[in-house]
Amino acid sequence: MRINKGLELWGQAKKIIPGGNGLLSKRPERYAPDIWPAYFDKARGVEVWDLEGNKYIDMAQMGIGSAILGYGDPDVDGAVKEAVEKGVNTTLNAPEEVYLAEKLLELNPFAGGVKFARTGGEAMSIAVRIARSYSGKDKIAFSGYHGWSDWYLATNLSGENELSDHLLPGLDPKGVPQGLKGTMFPFEYNNIEALKAVVEKEDIGVIVIEGARYDFPSREFLEAIAEIAREKNIVVVLDEITSGWRMTDGGVYKLFDFEPDIVVYGKAMGNGYAISAIVGKKEIMNEAQETFISSTFWTERVGFAAGLATLNKLVSNKVWEHLNKTGRQIGDGWQKAADKHGLKLSTTDYKALITFKLNYGEKNAALTTLFTQEMLKRGYLAGAAVYVSYAHTEHIVKNYLEVVDEVFEIMAKAVTLNNIFDKLETAVKEEGFKRLN
Ligand SMILES: Cc1ncc(COP(=O)(O)O)c(C=O)c1O
Repeated sequence: MRINKGLELWGQAKKIIPGGNGLLSKRPERYAPDIWPAYFDKARGVEVWDLEGNKYIDMAQMGIGSAILGYGDPDVDGAVKEAVEKGVNTTLNAPEEVYLAEKLLELNPFAGGVKFARTGGEAMSIAVRIARSYSGKDKIAFSGYHGWSDWYLATNLSGENELSDHLLPGLDPKGVPQGLKGTMFPFEYNNIEALKAVVEKEDIGVIVIEGARYDFPSREFLEAIAEIAREKNIVVVLDEITSGWRMTDGGVYKLFDFEPDIVVYGKAMGNGYAISAIVGKKEIMNEAQETFISSTFWTERVGFAAGLATLNKLVSNKVWEHLNKTGRQIGDGWQKAADKHGLKLSTTDYKALITFKLNYGEKNAALTTLFTQEMLKRGYLAGAAVYVSYAHTEHIVKNYLEVVDEVFEIMAKAVTLNNIFDKLETAVKEEGFKRLN
């Protein structure tokens, strides 16, 4: 088996960085453990070069959803370079913090206050602190994935599988204070009865949901949340860290006649540079003054400069329209190729983060690994989901789909001949959270 430089470095990384890196979604084990290039040297548009100079087209995670405009966007990088030249962190504040807050309020007319952070997880911790503080209640009803923090992982103190249906199975709450047990109440997305059952039993202070994951919220679901929140004085936090900017000039919530109390953005809003935002109703955001929320790098200039340039470009080009059109092209292409070769596959409704689901039960992971393996050989970083970016042109997608057609044929044959594992030149990808050795 060929050892690539990236995997050699990954081997070293795992010896000195527990888990190898700081983000589960960038571990080679999640794709094709023995052949994934692991590290990049440079990137531009949708192209990524590995440590040996091999070039790949990224039809996978695009910076795990952060590079919405494509890698190295000239407008965003230009704004960042200017910020770096002027200085990024001084005794005084960076004015762009105010300009970005103004922009976010313009795009979220329900809101009257903004706080900034750098990552999604910390932004959610801030949102939850503010919401708990305002409601005066500890208990949270929620659905979906919201990061690594204690408040969220506390869910699994009540049973190790409580979070299993919320994106990442297998999360261990070791180190999370037992005192947080009984504060978190998960419910199924879009399931009004499940939410009602929680709020009837528990004195809930905050409801947290994602803007969208694989499905969109139904109108009835959002109406029920609004009604319950009104009745029971509950603060509603919409986590649009992944869904934001991909459907509208803001959150998915803007597609509906629905007003959250707080909406949280991250990932794409800086096109790869670290910036996240908590945007909420004025009286609720003012609660941030009643508790302590403060950090040195939340005032650093690069994130604000990148955020402003990214939002300006997103809005003036209506980038979400491109993402949805392109996602549909990808989803339709997958389906057509799958039908042609007799591969059992379905695609999700959420086009901007288009995902296919294979229908082979226990063999799904091996079959998806085979897909990644064969796409890699043909110059693509690819898996079952594509974070579509503005840099994915029609031409790039057309070429990709021609290669997908070839690879789906290989996969369909492997299913028919029952030899998926013989075809694999790597261990099977891992799903969910698993400790690495
Ligand atoms: C909906 C949602 N919330 C929170 C997070 C956590 O964000 P981060 O990884 O930037 O901490 C993510 C990340 O995937 C997410 O998708």
